[in-house]
Amino acid sequence: MPEKTFTRTLVTAALPYANGPIHIGHLAGAYLPADLYCRYRRLTGDDLVFVCGSDEMGVAILMRALAEGTTPRAIVDRYHPMIEASFRAFGMSFDYYGRTTSPTHAETSQDFFRRLAEQDLFKLKTEEQLFDPEAGIFLADRFVRGTCPVCGYEEAYGDQCERCGSSLSPTELINPRSALTQATPVLRETTHWYLPLGDFQPRLEAWIGTHPEWKPNVLGQIKSWLNDGLKDRAITRDVPWGVPVPEDVAEARGVDVQGKVIYVWFDAPIGYISATKEWAARQGDPERWKRYWRDEQTRLIHFIGKDNIVFHCLMFPAMLMGYGGFVLPENVPANEFLNIEGQKLSTSRNWAVWLHEYLEDFPPDLLRYALATTLPETKDADFSWKDFQTRVNSELADILGNFVNRTMTFAHRFFDGKVPALTEPSEADREVLAQLAGFPERIGASYDQFRFREAVFETMNLARLGNKYFNDTEPWHTRKTNPQACANTIHVCLQLCAALGILMEPVVPFAAGRLRAMLNLTGVRSSLPGEAEAHALGWADAGRPLLEVGHALGEAEILFSKIDDDVIEAQIARLRGSAPTSAPEDEPAAPYEPLRDTITFEEFARLDLRVGRVTAAEPVPKSKKLLRLEVDLGFEQRQVLAGVAQHLTPDELLGKQVVIVANLAPRTMMGLESQGMLLMAEDRDGRLAPLTADAEPGAVVR
Ligand code: 2FM
Ligand code: ZN
Repeated sequence: MPEKTFTRTLVTAALPYANGPIHIGHLAGAYLPADLYCRYRRLTGDDLVFVCGSDEMGVAILMRALAEGTTPRAIVDRYHPMIEASFRAFGMSFDYYGRTTSPTHAETSQDFFRRLAEQDLFKLKTEEQLFDPEAGIFLADRFVRGTCPVCGYEEAYGDQCERCGSSLSPTELINPRSALTQATPVLRETTHWYLPLGDFQPRLEAWIGTHPEWKPNVLGQIKSWLNDGLKDRAITRDVPWGVPVPEDVAEARGVDVQGKVIYVWFDAPIGYISATKEWAARQGDPERWKRYWRDEQTRLIHFIGKDNIVFHCLMFPAMLMGYGGFVLPENVPANEFLNIEGQKLSTSRNWAVWLHEYLEDFPPDLLRYALATTLPETKDADFSWKDFQTRVNSELADILGNFVNRTMTFAHRFFDGKVPALTEPSEADREVLAQLAGFPERIGASYDQFRFREAVFETMNLARLGNKYFNDTEPWHTRKTNPQACANTIHVCLQLCAALGILMEPVVPFAAGRLRAMLNLTGVRSSLPGEAEAHALGWADAGRPLLEVGHALGEAEILFSKIDDDVIEAQIARLRGSAPTSAPEDEPAAPYEPLRDTITFEEFARLDLRVGRVTAAEPVPKSKKLLRLEVDLGFEQRQVLAGVAQHLTPDELLGKQVVIVANLAPRTMMGLESQGMLLMAEDRDGRLAPLTADAEPGAVVR
């Protein structure tokens, strides 16, 4: 198949629900990767538009309003500006940030609904649904709770059981009750539109088949949905908040439209189109949105978290196919989830780092960098404040900041703040400049393949290269012994700094701007929205020396300050202090892990479990997860490696009488043999506690 060529890019980041502020889980899932990608591509000169906005419809907003005794409008009017302000302060380079309560969005959603209805692509079904006789409303999705028919959990929701993960419909619940009034619902007939996704399955499968390059975590989820066979999905609701079902469509089918709205997962992705329309209107060219949505030379990329995959990879594409003439996503690089300090992020327990709170204490670049190096690209990842501190102190300050600082200091002190000439360059000078030439393309390839951790690591490698070259060429010596060699070193280092001033722009845009000011490097293309200036310096130019000999530098300043331990400890205390130990009663706890298959007693008896006393415990060098334990089993000593370092300190284990799987085949990790396994209890938030036993070492556990 001929390679597709694109002349422009449209990037979307999932529309966050306007029912609460933004936390670092949101950033790591969708927004930071999207922004890294957009800033990088704008620097290449790409014609790119980046849209996002607040998701202001749906039951999530209504529930929040009811919980607070206010209106949905008041909720979205409170959170939309707050979210937008946090994003702006964090440097999210949206071309447009909209909201799904806008008139354009209502029109666009209704137009989609109408067009699909006119082509007879929907099914209309009249069925009995749960109705709250006290509140006088139908109980959709989360408005109804009851006992899960699969696992017996008594607090399951109408759309899903949070304990066993089963997808449910409200009428399947045993002993249902209204989440609003606690009343026992009655059955009442109602009519709804369904999108028969099964009808689209052959086309969706054929299209997905053309994208073997998508991330395995995304393809894996899609294939599992396709294997199960796509089902009809109701795309309307009887709730008092949402985009109204178009009256003409309802009338044509003889349905009373009163109180019927479009399901939020039908309208939300259309929000990307509405936002592009509003952006185009603001540009004074209202038709321009079509170039990005209805022209196959557009590369459409959706950045989302893993819980949104089915909607972006199957449901929205089916809607776009049904409408006709729209581009389909070229890629949907969904991320997995971010944990915090080894535990699942939980807004209900306030186990979260909120963006607006972070921004009160630190500059945006530090978190951008720390998160970019830890993104959950292929599996869930962990954010810890200590790791944040290490990224800032040992990488941003010690590697990048130090390289820039020592170079600038030398240039100002010994070369009058001007770029010295490169004369008769040595092998080392030429080698470094030759290596520089390869960086933009290599880093760019990682960005283009959505491998952001790799891109950022490779960018930092340029500063690592600079520091090594500086150390190897010893300008503090050559200054006295061989001034020409010293001048050459500083010339080359300044060229590396200039390159970093461009290549660091996507990840730490504020610091990169300050670096360019220090170098007095002008004429660099902006990574922010706007037309790309054709003659400006761009991404590829970073591979060649950009500073002329004799060019006057700006003033030097410290690029990154280190963070002290007490500042980090205060953040950890704030996180721990603000998180209650258990979830409030009205909030769903994380799901319990489902029970595994039954085993026979004989199978169980093959395990040799023993009590052991931990006689020594220490971290394993270079491992974030492992502790090395010495365990006294009474009859012998064992070395056991336990992956608990993010949960327990060595002191918390020392002297404890723990339970060990004593007949597990030895395994080598980090060059050390583990001669047994420590049994731990993991709760639903991922916290670990050791199993202890008040019995002599060597005692058999059965
Ligand atoms: O999961 C969420 O937070 C949704 N509000 C995402 C919507 S993405 C898109 F479809 F708008
Ligand atoms: Zn269940």
